[in-house]
Amino acid sequence: AQKLKNISSLVKTCLPDRVSRILEDIGRLAESMGLNAYLVGGVVRDILMQNTNMDIDIVVEGDAPALAKRFAAMKKAKVSEHFKFKTAVVIFRDGFRVDFATSRTEYYTNPASAPEVENASIRNDLYRRDFSINAMAVKLTGDDFGLLLDFFGGQKDIIDKKIRVLHSLSFVDDPSRCLRGVRFAVRYGFAVGPHTEKLLKHAVSLKLLERVVGQRMYLELKYILSEDSYVDALLMMKKYDMLKFFHEKLAIDDFKLDRFAVLKKINGWYSFQFEDKLELWISRFCILFADLNRQEMKRLASRFEITGRLYDELADTFYKFKHAVWQVRRLKDVKASAITGIFEGMKTEAVTAAVAVLGQEYEWLLKEYLTVYRFVTPSVDGNDLKSMGIPPSGIYGEILKEIKRAKLDHEISSKEEELDLAERIARERGIKF
Ligand code: CTP
Repeated sequence: AQKLKNISSLVKTCLPDRVSRILEDIGRLAESMGLNAYLVGGVVRDILMQNTNMDIDIVVEGDAPALAKRFAAMKKAKVSEHFKFKTAVVIFRDGFRVDFATSRTEYYTNPASAPEVENASIRNDLYRRDFSINAMAVKLTGDDFGLLLDFFGGQKDIIDKKIRVLHSLSFVDDPSRCLRGVRFAVRYGFAVGPHTEKLLKHAVSLKLLERVVGQRMYLELKYILSEDSYVDALLMMKKYDMLKFFHEKLAIDDFKLDRFAVLKKINGWYSFQFEDKLELWISRFCILFADLNRQEMKRLASRFEITGRLYDELADTFYKFKHAVWQVRRLKDVKASAITGIFEGMKTEAVTAAVAVLGQEYEWLLKEYLTVYRFVTPSVDGNDLKSMGIPPSGIYGEILKEIKRAKLDHEISSKEEELDLAERIARERGIKF
């Protein structure tokens, strides 16, 4: 039996005031409707570990969409309902969201099929979750606001630093949990419990990950690559022989680890230098799959079932990254204009990945490109060319491009020199003016 513990003061200190007030409002409203409501999942784990987490998931014993609708009306927020799953999401004007789900027990008629839903108690709802640390709830209704429900030893596992499933079929029910387990283990520096590890190895040997739909595989990889300790995650996936489920050629060797180390240095410099936040997982993705050729990348994309714009964007970023590495390697003369020509039009994430692959000796080049080269533009413009009497035509583009090149390579530096160069080019082309 679990020890009863009220963590309302911890909830209030860990969450912003606004969010804890929202939770109190939800509790009161649910109570007035005769429903029990609970805060569940990752946010409870993070409150207990005193981490910030703003993903608010509410489970209701009863009609969750009905509660969500009343709550949205009260807060003048938007609500959207998912009838089949009896869930709803409330979205505030500033984008802040609260997810509502009806507590449920899942019957897996076939492990890969969608679960059927029925009302059931909170304990059953928690029991169908992945790991003990994610299977705790905080009661929001009644006099027990803040009561922690921990039926499966989540608190103990946080103290013991253990990732533990709740039952032996957990990975069979949902094989993507193999990847989630790795992610939580590295994020919190937890070990996989011995029994859970046995089940994990068994799941791998049964190739259960092959059953996970593409989009889920893609998302889980994206989440893993978004973690600070993604390298540990990749090494753990290597240890458990899970990498092959992404691509049979996927390997982590010392060379790749070195690339990741260079990337880390580069990104450290970047975040110190610039305000914008890079999507770090993109650079890591490029390096991870750097040795795949086009055919193999297509296979990976089809494993991920990514199509349309998502595919076009990812493929574009990846191929530009590969091409840039190749182009820089074969440059005889590493001129500013040549580098700019290669990196321009690439996502910064692809540029940093390319430089990480090229190696530390190219770091200065990246810094020059990002701080100087990419901002170089001609001082003269079309109006100046017009004033000189050059008739407007396609030649304008050519002239401006050549001025930019010469400026980048320090062949010219003043506006006067730019004008001279423009004149020279026009005359060479036999343009009368
Ligand atoms: N969950 C699960 N099995 C899955 C996915 C999710 O049991 N395959 C449950 C867990 O209880 C989890 C909750 O659903 O805590 C919410 O899932 P998600 O938002 O994906 O995870 P978080 O735990 O919130 O993780 P993160 O901190 O990365 O957002």
